[in-house]
Amino acid sequence: MIKEVLTTGNELLGQVSEEVTLDELNTPQLKSLIEDMIDTMKFKNGVGIAAVQIGVPKRIAIIGYDSSNPRYKDIGSFPITVIINPSFEAVGDEVFELNEGCLSVPGIRGDVIRAKKLRYKYQDMTGTIITGETDSFFARVLQHEIDHMNGILFPMRIEDIK
Ligand code: NI
Repeated sequence: MIKEVLTTGNELLGQVSEEVTLDELNTPQLKSLIEDMIDTMKFKNGVGIAAVQIGVPKRIAIIGYDSSNPRYKDIGSFPITVIINPSFEAVGDEVFELNEGCLSVPGIRGDVIRAKKLRYKYQDMTGTIITGETDSFFARVLQHEIDHMNGILFPMRIEDIK
């Protein structure tokens, strides 16, 4: 079901989301939340969405995109993926700047500097731990979604908002 996306000013967006526990995995509630997140992200043409953006402060994100996305160009493609309890560490010191937007910050975009290459870790819907290394657009979106889980919106990372 398509849900309302909370926007700047809503207190929930500033909260630190809670870890998803083992006994929450594989529950109908979790499946239904994930379906709602996917429906809402597709409807809004997002490339990622965190659960807190639809009002549920849990450490869950959906990431998925292809090059037909009207919000970003030349980003390659990534299948729609459920990301639970994610973490990352930067690999090397290289950073890059990219013009970001956010479904929760309508009408504003800004250049954000983030780590280029990451080593990441998350759980899938069954609790299986997935690890990897990437410097693709996925690295960018993952950092943005983990920020949401920590109560951070992208304008807090930039000085010059356009
Ligand atoms: Ni966002």
